[in-house]
Amino acid sequence: MKHFTTRQALAEHLLQLKIQGKTIGFVPTMGALHNGHLSLIRIAQQQCDVVVCSIFVNPTQFTDPSDLEKYPRPIGADIAKLESVKCDVLFEPPVNEMYAGNEHWHLAIGELEHLLEGASRPGHYQGVTQVVSKLFDIVKPDIAFFGQKDYQQFLVISKMVELLAMPVKLVMCPIERETDGLAMSSRNIHLSASDRRNALVLSQTLNAVKQQFNIDGIDQLKQEAEHTITSTPDVKLSYFEIVDGETLHRATSSSKHIVALVAVKVGNTRLIDNVIIM
Ligand code: PAJ
Repeated sequence: MKHFTTRQALAEHLLQLKIQGKTIGFVPTMGALHNGHLSLIRIAQQQCDVVVCSIFVNPTQFTDPSDLEKYPRPIGADIAKLESVKCDVLFEPPVNEMYAGNEHWHLAIGELEHLLEGASRPGHYQGVTQVVSKLFDIVKPDIAFFGQKDYQQFLVISKMVELLAMPVKLVMCPIERETDGLAMSSRNIHLSASDRRNALVLSQTLNAVKQQFNIDGIDQLKQEAEHTITSTPDVKLSYFEIVDGETLHRATSSSKHIVALVAVKVGNTRLIDNVIIM
């Protein structure tokens, strides 16, 4: 695997590959890689000639400084995992390679960045679009791969790509889960043994909502789900919503896609999960 830490060296390498007519797939990450990340790389390998993974813990998308500070950074293990799946290129820039100094600009993509996760973590998606727009500009991928795990992030990035007419196709990849249903996340390592058990309420509740779904019963389903989650020890509900898959507003009978999305704190760890109902 080629490993670059500067934009220029990466861009020069990728330019040569593009001249040879190779298609570039891109998987942006913040590292602490797990099978969810690796599944994105495998899907990218099926669709592109060359796969670039970036590892960059982006400071501008963290709204809580202690969350940024304690974000895991096991770079040696990450490199070994990327090599084990035969990723072609790793881009791992230091902060000063991505940000010139205090950058006070941001993109404003509209309502999608202010709902749900955006309401719980004001400014989060502005940090995400800031870094992803920079990364797209450096890598210039043909296709970029993101996880359904961060469903709203996918919508926000899609909106950015549409508004700025960025020449990149986006692919949403399914959520990888532990065998007991917990969605894989870099933050799971912070869960104590009891947190880990309590966290199962997320996937269990989402599955139950999917199974029992009927459009006229949305409000009752939401209430029951909220009750189940708030009754679980050490779990603090941030939101549980059953929404239109495009607008993120409450689902209606004219919604083409419907998604249930949940965010909680289990102990001190913030977790999100979702299920596509239709
Ligand atoms: P990170 O949380 O590292 O996630 C990188 C990618 O992996 C995202 O597209 C995310 O949705 C996907 N992912 C995470 N857990 C997954 C799982 N269990 N199954 C499938 N895919 C999963 O998302 C970010 O980083 C950052 O916001 C980033 C886009 C890199 C911008 O900084």
